[in-house]
Amino acid sequence: MRPDPREKAKINAGRKAAEMVEDGMVLGLGTGSTTHHFMVQLAERIRKEGIRIAGVPTSLQTEIRARALSIPLTTLDDCPCPDLAVDGADQIDPGFRLVKGRGAALTREKVVAAASAGIIIIAGEEKLVERLSGTVPVEVIPFAVTPVMRALERLGGTPSIREGKEKDGPVITDNGNYIVDCAFPEIPDPPGLEEEITALPGVLECGLFCRYAKKTRVLAGRADGCRVVKKRPVQEI
Ligand code: 5RP
Repeated sequence: MRPDPREKAKINAGRKAAEMVEDGMVLGLGTGSTTHHFMVQLAERIRKEGIRIAGVPTSLQTEIRARALSIPLTTLDDCPCPDLAVDGADQIDPGFRLVKGRGAALTREKVVAAASAGIIIIAGEEKLVERLSGTVPVEVIPFAVTPVMRALERLGGTPSIREGKEKDGPVITDNGNYIVDCAFPEIPDPPGLEEEITALPGVLECGLFCRYAKKTRVLAGRADGCRVVKKRPVQEI
């Protein structure tokens, strides 16, 4: 069966990112379906060209997939400053601020993004938005979930604990915590909201990624190719 246009867009973005990897790099390996396409192409380059890389996986899913593709793995303990993190996103604004966390891997993704010298975000064009909006995933330690949900309401959000699919009860992250999906009618100040959410006791991290725009490049895939997105000033509300 032929991949649908959205899948093709992800494949094209993943391929372009794999072409940008240089021999000897330590890579942050993000999580999700677009990152998977990147890893498939990366594995091909390792096999055919013999490039030597080592990857730091940001989730159990990525670790399992990387092992299946024979991509060499390492850790932040051995390689604390990866050269490049390659990851997907759920929303990307013109200033390269992001919403992430559909796959519940946002904390490790943010740790790797912060530690890496550069970041490449790969996504289909539909992920490019004029303004970040809607649901912000928040990783919360179970002990703190009720006070954190109340505090998120005071910040103007409508929080709900993410439920598993094919598993009753809450999603448990790779770190043993809950994901609270918090819907906001609008997000006029993403960096301010990121600071407010992450300052709540019991919150590990949230899916707003506003601090890494300077070192981020964005590759937007389409069914027939992929383009490097030009950063633009964000129109404040
Ligand atoms: C996981 C993420 C993913 O990178 C994000 O959801 C994009 O996933 P996909 O490439 O499957 O659309 O943040 O926590």
